Amino acid sequence: DWTTGNVIDEQVEAIREQVGDRRAICGLSGGVDSAVAAALVQKAIGSQLTCVYVDHGLMRKGETEQVEKDFVAATGVQLKVVDAEERFLTALKGVSDPEEKRKIIGREFIRVFEQAQAEIIADEGPAVEFLVQGTLYPDVVESGGGTGTANIKSHHNVGGLPEDLEFQLIEPLRKLFKDEVRMVGQELGLPEEIVQRQPFPGPGLGIRIVGEVTKERLDLLRDADAIAREELTAAGLDRDIWQCPVVLLADVRSVGVQGDGRTYGHPIVLRPVSSEDAMTADWSRLPYDVLAKISTRITNEVSDVNRVVVDITSKPPGTIEWE
Ligand code: XMP
Repeated sequence: DWTTGNVIDEQVEAIREQVGDRRAICGLSGGVDSAVAAALVQKAIGSQLTCVYVDHGLMRKGETEQVEKDFVAATGVQLKVVDAEERFLTALKGVSDPEEKRKIIGREFIRVFEQAQAEIIADEGPAVEFLVQGTLYPDVVESGGGTGTANIKSHHNVGGLPEDLEFQLIEPLRKLFKDEVRMVGQELGLPEEIVQRQPFPGPGLGIRIVGEVTKERLDLLRDADAIAREELTAAGLDRDIWQCPVVLLADVRSVGVQGDGRTYGHPIVLRPVSSEDAMTADWSRLPYDVLAKISTRITNEVSDVNRVVVDITSKPPGTIEWE
């Protein structure tokens, strides 16, 4: 019988057997898969696991705290947080091209993670032999050379790390689909916000600023994004929407009027989509009153934004993200 309880018991036993008295490392991305994989391994081997979270400064509001506080509180996991915001912002300086951004973010991520890994090994000795990965069944099938769909954007999944031959992999979610992973996460007592999290790209807000990525622009986008998420959640729409990227058109300005005067600010794009697997998508027909509330709040509360627009393009031809 398939039950989350059985899956957990089975994996816990298998992981204990595999690891013995040695040690493991797991990279957390803030996403569902790495969180559930880490929680499972934590349940199996406790303090023999060390998690690493690279804060690249491109997360949405509250997400880093969610990992640092809520995830740790729920699991008791040993966590090493690397604050690498400066490093990523410096590397991204002057870069507007989407693929270039992805390459830089992926490259820096690997470097920072490898350094953290080396530090952990220096602290804990050569018994660190395992790397935990949140690989799901569909990932296994895909990398097995299955359908071979064209990779239009280079997807640097922050959870996916370079193959390091010195590590053996622990992949406790290899037989599971996404909805099953969520159920396992729930059973393990992970916070709802992590278990039910909608897809979010590894390069984060770095690919939701059309134009150069700067700290000021990130802060502005974080505020706008938080408002949109808050209102969508309040309206009970989270389960109806696959995801809703909020995009800052940093290179575009338009004229507006606010208070006593003329403004010349940036537009924010809302990109709510419905989808089954992100390969195709349709734009979500959100209630007008919800859109109105989001628009009013963003233009009132976020300085330098004087216009909110909704993307009504399906995929194809548009992708879900703008970059
Ligand atoms: P697109 O924009 O290609 O996105 O329609 C399809 C899905 O993939 C996510 N996405 C990414 N995920 N790294 C990721 O881990 C990336 O570079 C990346 N680009 C897009 C996107 O959010 C959507 O769910």
